[in-house]
Amino acid sequence: MVNKPGKASILAAQDDWNIQLDSHGRLKHFLTIEGLGSEILNNILDTAESFANINEQSVKKVPLLRGKTIVNLFFEASTRTRTTFELAAKRLSADVLNINISTSATSKGETLLDTLRNIQAMQCDMFIVRHNDSGAAHHIARNVSPDISVINAGDGRHAHPTQAMLDMFTIRRSKGHDFGKLRVAIVGDLMHSRVARSQIHALNTLNTGEVRVIGPKTLIPMGIENMGVTVYNDMAAGIKDADVVIMLRLQKERMQGALLPSEQEFYAMYGLSREKLRHAKADAIVMHPGPINRGVEIETAVADGPQSVILKQVTYGISIRMAVMSMVLGREAQSDSRPADEAKA
Ligand code: NCD
Repeated sequence: MVNKPGKASILAAQDDWNIQLDSHGRLKHFLTIEGLGSEILNNILDTAESFANINEQSVKKVPLLRGKTIVNLFFEASTRTRTTFELAAKRLSADVLNINISTSATSKGETLLDTLRNIQAMQCDMFIVRHNDSGAAHHIARNVSPDISVINAGDGRHAHPTQAMLDMFTIRRSKGHDFGKLRVAIVGDLMHSRVARSQIHALNTLNTGEVRVIGPKTLIPMGIENMGVTVYNDMAAGIKDADVVIMLRLQKERMQGALLPSEQEFYAMYGLSREKLRHAKADAIVMHPGPINRGVEIETAVADGPQSVILKQVTYGISIRMAVMSMVLGREAQSDSRPADEAKA
């Protein structure tokens, strides 16, 4: 059986997000956007910019992480995230190991921590972890040996920080560096979305002008207003004059009970059709973390249309993941990112 972190460690995770920074304020793990300042987020975005240039060249490889071993540990399904982490690691010249959990010894009863200790004994430098329990990445980061870094590739409905950063990168590349003038609308299943939670933290940290969340009452978490967002249950009003419209997938695998009348009804009210998109600004961009469900949350003509940047998000995911991995494993070469007075103390 997998050793589940459970509720207690979710709460603990909120208290100790600080474990992701080392004593110099540099990223040692990347587990959540919470608790990170705009300098670190902008540093990730600026570093990704230089990797985006490398990714556009015919030879897409740099020797930055030569000799490092990175392990992809995915306990939950993934296409984009796992493959772009693998590509990112390879473009940094690291060695990559993909562990297929469904065929590994965890399915023979080994606990999560025992599996990790065994992989750790193979002298790896970084674990990329996806798990369906909120708090799993923190749990692992707290229990691995101190020379291993952990990157959260999605834990339950809690956080998906690299997805949020590739989304910020996509917005910045399309709309410029000033998030203060942007109105961003996030639509759909906010309740179960780790992507939305991380996006909201990142948008707030980058001082976005306005962040709106839109969906049926059953799919909007209570108290989400406390995260500094405005809630709309009406799609037309919610996306009115938006610069960025982010659509989310219905996370049926995380839903308990009937939260939706039917997919058809959801689509009629909240699906992004060409007609509804007209309420947003004429130059609004349309985003989605994938996988998309055509005809459920988005019309094909919009997903494949001129305003869609959905495939750009996938491309930029490689640059963002290269940035995060190189910052975390190349910490010694980085400058201290704490404010000067704090660093002197
Ligand atoms: C998201 C995820 O897994 O949280 N997908 C992704 O990482 N690209 C969103 C989703 O599954 O709907």
